[in-house]
Amino acid sequence: MKRTIPVRLREGKDRSYEVLISPGALAQLPSLIASRWKGRSVFVVTDSHVNRLYGRTVTRGLVAAGFDPVLIDVPPGEESKSIDVYYAVLTALLENRIRRGSVVIALGGGVVGDLAGFASASVLRGVEFVQVPTSLLAQVDSSVGGKVGIDHHLGKNLIGAFHQPSLVVIDPLVLKTLPPREFRNGLAEIIKIAAALDRKFFSLLARNAAKLRPGQTAFLTRVIATAVGLKAAVVEKDEREAGLRKVLNLGHTLGHAIETASGFSLRHGETVAIGMVLEARMAATMGLLSIDHLMKIKQALEAVGLPTRIPGKLDMRRVHTSLALDKKGKDGMPLFVLPKAIGASAIDVPVPDALIRSVLA
Ligand code: GLY
Repeated sequence: MKRTIPVRLREGKDRSYEVLISPGALAQLPSLIASRWKGRSVFVVTDSHVNRLYGRTVTRGLVAAGFDPVLIDVPPGEESKSIDVYYAVLTALLENRIRRGSVVIALGGGVVGDLAGFASASVLRGVEFVQVPTSLLAQVDSSVGGKVGIDHHLGKNLIGAFHQPSLVVIDPLVLKTLPPREFRNGLAEIIKIAAALDRKFFSLLARNAAKLRPGQTAFLTRVIATAVGLKAAVVEKDEREAGLRKVLNLGHTLGHAIETASGFSLRHGETVAIGMVLEARMAATMGLLSIDHLMKIKQALEAVGLPTRIPGKLDMRRVHTSLALDKKGKDGMPLFVLPKAIGASAIDVPVPDALIRSVLA
C-alpha cells in the first residue's frame, strides 16, 4: 500500500523531496529521520491535542533512534497561527539552541504545519523541516508545496513564505482518531483538487463517496496519493504561484472571506466547499461552466456531508470586507479561479461586482 510521490523542484539548488504515504508510517518516522539527519538536533512542534495522541510515541522513537528531541507544544486551533504563538515557538527553538543544521518536525494538522514551517523558514534564516501531517486536510494540501505562514487580524495567511519541506511523511492510520468534521474538512480539498484538475479522479470520488471514510485505509491511501500527485505536479511547474498554481485556490477566494467572517467557527474545508459551489455558480452565470457540471460539483460535496450554502447567521458585511482585502486581488478587486468544466479551471477571471453580490445574497 506504500506510495512515494516525488516533488521535483530543480530551480536554483535541487530542493526536491519525497512524500511518503504509508499506513503505519508514523512508527517509521524516527528511523526515517535517523537515516538522513543522524547526529543533528531535532525539534518536534505539535499541538497539545496531537501531543496527547502521538507526541510520546514520536519522541520515544526519536530517543531510541539516538536523538535528544525538544518538544514544543502549542494550543490547538487557528488562533495559534498568530504572531504571539509564532514568537513563542521561535523563543523555544532559540532557547534550546537550534542550529542551522537542526531539523524541525511539524507533527499535526495544517495550523502546526504552517506555523512550524514558517518558524523553520525564518529562524536563523532557515532550517530544514519535515512535515508529518495528522489531519486529512494537511495530508492532501497544506503539507505539500511549501506555503507556510501565519494569520493577521486583517486576514488568513497574510504573513508567510515559500519554504519547502525536506520530507513529508503521511500515515493514513492516524485519520482514525480524527473527528468526523475534521475528516470532511480534508475531503473538501480532495474534491477541490479533482474538480480543478482531473475529471477521472472526480468521478472516482463521486462514485465512491461512501468509501471516503477513515477505516477504508486502502482506498484512502490511493485517494491521498492521487491528490498529492496532482498537487505535486502543479507545484513542480509553478512553485511560487505565478500562474498555474492559482488553480489550487478554487473555492478559496469566497471561502477565505466566509471563513474569516465566521470568526473561524466554520472550518476551512467547509468554507472551501461553499466557496466552490458559489464560484461554480458565478462561472455558470458567466457561461463558462455547464449547469450539469455545477450540479455534479455540488452533489459530490453534499454526498460527503459538506455544506454548500452560506449559513443564514453570517454577517455578510464582514464577507465583503474580507473579500476586498483578499491578497489575491488587484486594486481591491478580487480575481477568481473559476471552473470551466470538471477537471479544468480558468485563473485570474475578473468577476463583476454585481455578480459577486448576487451569488452571496
Ligand atoms: N493550498 C493551495 C496551494 O498550496 O497552493
